[in-house]
Amino acid sequence: MSNSFFRRKNISSIVAEGADDTHGGGGLKRVLTVKDLTFFGIAAILGAGSFSSLGGAIFNGGPGVIVLFIITGIACGFTALCYSDFASRIPVAGSAYTYAYASFGELLAWIIGWALIMEYSIGNIYVSFSWSDYFTSFLDKLNIHLPEYLITSYMEAKHAVESSGTNQELIAAWNNAPVLGNLKIIFDLPALVINFLITYLVYRGVKESRNFSNLMVYLKLGVVFLIIIIGGYFVLSNGLFSNWTPVNDEGVKSFMPNGFSGVMAAVAGVFFAYIGFDAVSVLAEESKNPQRDLPRGMIFSLVICTIIYILLTLVLTGAVHYKKFDGIGDPLAFIFEKQNLNIGWMQFLVAICAVVAMTSVLLVFQMGQPRIWMSMSRDGLLPEKFQEIHPKYKTPSFSTLVTGLVVGIPILFTDKTFVLDFTSIATLFAFVLVCGGVLLLPKKSKGQGGFYLPFISSKYIFPLMIIVSIGLLTYFSNNYFSSLFNFSAGDVNYTYNISTIIFWFICILMSVGSFIKEWSLIPVMGLVTCLYLLTGMTAANWIWFAAWLVIGLVIYLFYGYKKSKLSTSTK
Ligand code: ALA
Repeated sequence: MSNSFFRRKNISSIVAEGADDTHGGGGLKRVLTVKDLTFFGIAAILGAGSFSSLGGAIFNGGPGVIVLFIITGIACGFTALCYSDFASRIPVAGSAYTYAYASFGELLAWIIGWALIMEYSIGNIYVSFSWSDYFTSFLDKLNIHLPEYLITSYMEAKHAVESSGTNQELIAAWNNAPVLGNLKIIFDLPALVINFLITYLVYRGVKESRNFSNLMVYLKLGVVFLIIIIGGYFVLSNGLFSNWTPVNDEGVKSFMPNGFSGVMAAVAGVFFAYIGFDAVSVLAEESKNPQRDLPRGMIFSLVICTIIYILLTLVLTGAVHYKKFDGIGDPLAFIFEKQNLNIGWMQFLVAICAVVAMTSVLLVFQMGQPRIWMSMSRDGLLPEKFQEIHPKYKTPSFSTLVTGLVVGIPILFTDKTFVLDFTSIATLFAFVLVCGGVLLLPKKSKGQGGFYLPFISSKYIFPLMIIVSIGLLTYFSNNYFSSLFNFSAGDVNYTYNISTIIFWFICILMSVGSFIKEWSLIPVMGLVTCLYLLTGMTAANWIWFAAWLVIGLVIYLFYGYKKSKLSTSTK
């Protein structure tokens, strides 16, 4: 028995539980292959980030947003390797939560599990809203028009009216909505309906979901390649290269028209586009050979999506001047509109495909969340009901239904921007902890089987990288570091400055740690690159995230800490 907040589960007991029917682990069907896992990865990654939030990212960063895609791709690549290392040592459901339990102990495991609700459930709210946007514009093209108050979120309509916005659809939703007492009835009906359908499908079982998901991935990959080929052809044949170095507000031609800060302002949207590769790891108990296939599935899907994002950004920013993406929620269809490349049938095809792409994202996350809760319940941190497996469908039935409610209810009172930022900050936070966790695990030798994370010592390389980076930054921008300490009243960069100072401070500490402890370079790089992405988050993001963590902590103290299996057994 242990009373410590840092009591840890040992890896062999986690693996044993995963294979044990009484813990629900043996109850799940092992049907997934490496191809299925890669497809699940792509199904989760390629969705609202590219089909919807890419427009805002390009508007902020211009063509230079490609740099952010590359940085984020690298950060996720390092993190995927860390996930793979963990997943091959602990091939059971639970994702980062389970991994943290083995490395950092219970309190941080709970915090990660709590943060992952953001990634899986709150992220799905954003995707549901985006799904609804494309679905309704698809219906519009078929001449079917739903009333605005049934396709708009209440908060968006309210903000539009209060801030005297110009979006006529939102204002019409507010003005024409039926009223019940004092309450205007405004909600996003298609977003609610798709959430209901996905919950039903996941409840029915992974096999059906897998086939459905694989089909959707084929479809969306096909259309994305078509966009790249057709859009790319027009960019090349019309010689639209000047759009890659557009003239900015100061009249200067630049690949990054709003500077690097403009690029970093796109971080939540760009990072959101990458979220998903880690969802593969929660399918450990349903894959045929998790030791071998999980790492492969994650890395393959990540590499494929990174290449797609770079090509898509090149095509979009070549086809249309970056400034035209202001407020564009369907950027992939937008480039084919009349005033742009003017290819009507592509517009239609992209709208259908976006609906398909986002459906598959919803499916993967809605499958992932219940499996994490199931693991937390096995450990006593959530009530036992959460590990209930459906006798016929072999799915975590109760957790699946709760997930449906956690996604569905906030659809009634949140909006897109809020959930996008919230999801990205929490997921990055979880990634930082996963990379940190790998540093704490004992080294594994090559002969032990499973995925072998190549060991490259960080002893000299990492401190050298930090020294060279500091040197280069000082050489090319000699006020880079001094400007970070230059706070003035009402400074809009306040949060960026504080978080960047903390970032460099941690880099220096990690250089010392690397030198003394000879850490493995890959998790060190994963941790540092994810921390770097966190510097792009705003103060409001941090405040909301902190509030969420405090609520989680209170629940842990009053429930999980007492009910934990580790507090009542000698495991
Ligand atoms: N990466 C996923 C998407 O873009 C979450 O929809």
